[in-house]
Amino acid sequence: MKKNNGIFITFEGIDGCGKSTQARWLNANLKKAGHEVVFLREPGGTPLSERVRNVLLNRRLEISPVAELLLYEAARAQLAETIIRPALAEGRIVVCDRYFDSTVAYQGYGRKLDRRLIDRLNALASFGITPDITFIFDVDYKTSLSRRGKRPDRLEKEKQAFFNRVRKGFVELASKRRIVLLDGRQDIKTLFEIVRQRAEKLIAQSRDNHAR
Ligand SMILES: Nc1ncnc2c1ncn2[C@@H]1O[C@H](COP(=O)(O)OP(=O)(O)O)[C@@H](O)[C@H]1O
Ligand SMILES: [Mg+2]
Repeated sequence: MKKNNGIFITFEGIDGCGKSTQARWLNANLKKAGHEVVFLREPGGTPLSERVRNVLLNRRLEISPVAELLLYEAARAQLAETIIRPALAEGRIVVCDRYFDSTVAYQGYGRKLDRRLIDRLNALASFGITPDITFIFDVDYKTSLSRRGKRPDRLEKEKQAFFNRVRKGFVELASKRRIVLLDGRQDIKTLFEIVRQRAEKLIAQSRDNHAR
C-alpha cells in the first residue's frame, strides 16, 4: 500500500518487556526534534477502539478465543482506517504501542488459532499497512512478572506455558526484515539509544528518498 512519506514505527513484546516506556520516550524525543508524531496504542486510539479495549481488559467478561481475535481486529480496523492511514498519507510519523504482531503472538502462538486466518484478518484490519520498523523486546517470565509487580498464583503453570508460547511467537516473528529484536533485560537507557538511532536512521533515509 502506498503510504506517501509517512513512517510507521511499532513496539511489541510481552507485558513488562518495556515497550510502552520505549514508545513514549521515542514519541517525546521525535516531537522535541520537531517531527509531527501521532502516538497511539493498541487496542485503542479511537473512541470505538478504546471501548473495545475496555471490553477486552474487563476481567469479569468471559471472552472466547475467536471472539477475542475478532475484537482485536475490530479495534485495529477502526484505528488503521481512520487514524493511521490518513496520518501516514500526510507524511507524519506514527508510533504505535502494539500492532498486528501481537495478534500473531497472542492469538496465534498463545491461543493456537490458525495462523493463516490470523494473517488474513490482520491484512484486512490493517488495510495492508505494515510497519516500517518494529521493535520487539524479549524478556523471560520472571522479568516480566517482576516488572508487573505480580506474585505467582495457583494458575501460574498454565500462565507460564501461555507466556512461553507467546514469547516464542515474538522471537520467531523477528526473522522478518522490518523487525529489530532486542534483549529487554538490558539497561533501559541503553535500549533507548538503540531505538532512537534506528528510528533516526530510518527517518533520514526516508526523507532522502523523497528528496530525490
Ligand atoms: N530495560 C528495563 N530495565 C528495567 N526496568 C524496565 C526496563 N524497561 C521497562 N522497565 C520497567 O518495567 C515496567 C514495565 O515497563 P513498560 O514499559 O510499562 O512495559 P510494557 O509496556 O511492555 O508492559 C516499568 O516500571 C518500567 O519502568
Ligand atoms: Mg504497556
